[in-house]
Amino acid sequence: MKSSFFALLLVCAAAPVAVQGEQVGNGTIRLFSNKTGPGVASGATNAGIIQIYIDDQWGNICSNQTTFGQREADTVCYQLGYNGADSFGAYGAALFGVDTSAAVIKDVHCDSDQYQVLSQCQYSPADSNSCNDKTDVHVTCSTTDIWSDPYDGMVRLVRGNYSSEGLVEVYCNKKWGTVCDDGIDDDEADTVCVQLGYTKSFKWDKLPVRGNGSQPIWLDNLYCGHTDKTCIGYCQTCPSEESTDCSHGEDLTVQCTYNKASFEKGSLRTTCTGIEDSWWTFIHIVIIAAAGLVGFILCCLCVCLSFCCCCAAGAKKKKKVINTAYTQFD
Ligand SMILES: *[C@@H]1O[C@H](CO)[C@@H](O)[C@H](O)[C@H]1NC(C)=O
Ligand SMILES: *[C@@H]1O[C@H](CO)[C@@H](O)[C@H](O)[C@H]1NC(C)=O
Ligand SMILES: *[C@@H]1O[C@H](CO)[C@@H](O)[C@H](O)[C@H]1NC(C)=O
Ligand SMILES: *[C@@H]1O[C@H](CO)[C@@H](O)[C@H](O)[C@H]1NC(C)=O
Ligand SMILES: *[C@@H]1O[C@H](CO)[C@@H](O)[C@H](O)[C@H]1NC(C)=O
Repeated sequence: MKSSFFALLLVCAAAPVAVQGEQVGNGTIRLFSNKTGPGVASGATNAGIIQIYIDDQWGNICSNQTTFGQREADTVCYQLGYNGADSFGAYGAALFGVDTSAAVIKDVHCDSDQYQVLSQCQYSPADSNSCNDKTDVHVTCSTTDIWSDPYDGMVRLVRGNYSSEGLVEVYCNKKWGTVCDDGIDDDEADTVCVQLGYTKSFKWDKLPVRGNGSQPIWLDNLYCGHTDKTCIGYCQTCPSEESTDCSHGEDLTVQCTYNKASFEKGSLRTTCTGIEDSWWTFIHIVIIAAAGLVGFILCCLCVCLSFCCCCAAGAKKKKKVINTAYTQFD
């Protein structure tokens, strides 16, 4: 317990040193803590000074308390997989120790509370006149994760170095499972990233992640085509049984990035909810419509038949009457 606690501290302290040749998606976020002595504020991964990776460097978010608010803090936590921020503030050094990295952005403002990644919000480049180590924004996220209330077709990235990368998992049949990489192309990897709020994937498949998936393999031969899809639920719906064609060595991994200049925008939190349900609704409507049509045709046939019968009977009767009349006239 104790040794793992120190291991965690070491990981946190080592985090800001960029790994040589490390490729990280733009818009990736991590939390930094530089307190290791007594009175450590946090060795946890859910609290710290916010660092964002933009234009090939890690840096801080600058705020003078007035711009960065609850909505912005909630978005940061959501991006990290936590269900909102318990607290946040501007002078991060007081709680988490000094972070000497320079600020990279300031004036962060989220128009919507439905964004999944902070890069979907507006911001401006930081400048050294208004930003210093005292303006570094920090956050403490709630420890409830965003996957406690999943929907069919929800995706998440696990076992990666950051929340923007890792092993792709999809939720089906009340269980998280993996995606086989057979037939995977940029389109499918991009769709995973767009569903998560990013704009695209810049690397996918056979990326180093911590261990293999152990869950069922849900999706195989995932195909999204060339049209830009926002959710993998539009490419393939949850199967009723797991795929047995693939092994966990073929589990799909992706690294996502956010390109501010991109025409494409990442999905919102609710963009991909209920797709599976709407598919079922659609199938039900088709079945009901087909049943209705068959019923209607049968009904028509019945009406026609009975009408014909009536006509025939009526004509026979009329003929008889006429015949009788003739008989009388005679
Ligand atoms: C991140 O942004 C920089 C500068 O805009 C760009 O050169 C780099 O290719 C981007 N990285 C990724 C992974 O898209
Ligand atoms: C805080 O920052 C905003 C935006 O940069 C600016 O308009 C405002 O004047 C600043 N407030 C203080 C007290 O410096
Ligand atoms: C951590 O804090 C120490 C002492 O304040 C400082 O010298 C060091 O540069 C900080 N590390 C980082 C990565 O900011
Ligand atoms: C994650 O970090 C490890 C250790 O620094 C590194 O070897 C690995 O390449 C990283 N993973 C990715 C996908 O970059
Ligand atoms: C993952 O699975 C592959 C293929 O099944 C296997 O070769 C590899 O050793 C596994 N890796 C781990 C860390 O379990």
